[in-house]
Amino acid sequence: MPRFVVTPWEVKGKVDYDKLVKQFGTKLIDHALLKRLEKHAGKLHMFLERGIFFSHRDFDWILNKYEEGEKFFLYTGRGPSGHTHVGHLIPWIFTKYLQDAFDAELYFQMTDDEKFLFRRDLDLDDAIGFTYENALDVIACGFDPKKTFIFSDVEYAKTLYKTAIQVAKHTTFSTVKAVFGFKGSSNIGIIFFPAMQAAPCFFPSVLKGKNIPCLIPAAIDQDPYWRPSRDVAPKLGFYKPAQLHCKFIPGLGKGGKMSASQPETCIFTTDAPEAAAKKIMNAFTGGRGTVKEQREKGGNPDICSVYQYFYFLFEESDKKLGEIYRTCKNGELICGDCKKMLAEKVKKFLVDHQRKREKAKNVIQEFMLKD
Ligand code: TRP
Repeated sequence: MPRFVVTPWEVKGKVDYDKLVKQFGTKLIDHALLKRLEKHAGKLHMFLERGIFFSHRDFDWILNKYEEGEKFFLYTGRGPSGHTHVGHLIPWIFTKYLQDAFDAELYFQMTDDEKFLFRRDLDLDDAIGFTYENALDVIACGFDPKKTFIFSDVEYAKTLYKTAIQVAKHTTFSTVKAVFGFKGSSNIGIIFFPAMQAAPCFFPSVLKGKNIPCLIPAAIDQDPYWRPSRDVAPKLGFYKPAQLHCKFIPGLGKGGKMSASQPETCIFTTDAPEAAAKKIMNAFTGGRGTVKEQREKGGNPDICSVYQYFYFLFEESDKKLGEIYRTCKNGELICGDCKKMLAEKVKKFLVDHQRKREKAKNVIQEFMLKD
């Protein structure tokens, strides 16, 4: 039995990222690549410095192109099956950083079709509804309305379909069966769907009538989609899409990634700040059984979900993060106080995000592509 599983539909167990890179055949982002990126971006994002964005395909090639004067566009997306949680924001925040650094257009796909096809319990209209709910969170990340195009697969199908069937024609059932594990009992919609997720790698080139490099920042569970996309690209006369991959933020419980199916271990962007604080106060930590024991022996930040939250999203200062780590280990910092500290940060974050989310309602139409 494998100790962990990573597919586009399931992330289970403690992920060994070095193993995953080997298994998937991607590359680690090394120091030289970081230096090159820093030269263009001016500053390395915290997600790069902390190894949260850690792996890539062809990012060096995209930079070569960029240095030769050929600009790329960004492509990422979301499967709208429910409300957004803070884990989803990580690739989006990073994408915004890339948009600013490279003055790049962003195409943002909402795969309401995928979620409808894949989830037994989700009505089509609910999936489309979540497209619009989730788009508010995307917009709240601060993307440039002139350079950002969000679309629902169902509603933008007329344009997408033209590219998707080109991809589909060159992709066999054996290929998607091998990559995604489809079976005879899989519905035929989901078997076609990988062509829909491949389409945005190419349709901006079709729209503009010239071949444009594509860079996809996303969590590494999406990588399987890019394998058939990369295989068909040259057959259709397009560049292979490049990728930057991130890790998963863990849930507030013991082990596993943050997952909407366990709402008590998951902070949604729509949670009332007080409700989110409560979830944090119930989080799994690396603390000892009693305060006395913790003072004597110290806690274990390496297994602590609260520490992970600081690390991934809620403590930008390396110095302060180091302080939390050190004082936890030596028993100075007690879990109750540490959780309160995180709860305060998260509450502040949510108040701010929810304000931006409300404002996004006025401009959402500027972002949505229609055909
Ligand atoms: N399949 C993704 C999900 O379920 C959504 C998605 C579509 C996506 N296109 C993408 C994610 C491109 C990252 C990059 O969440």
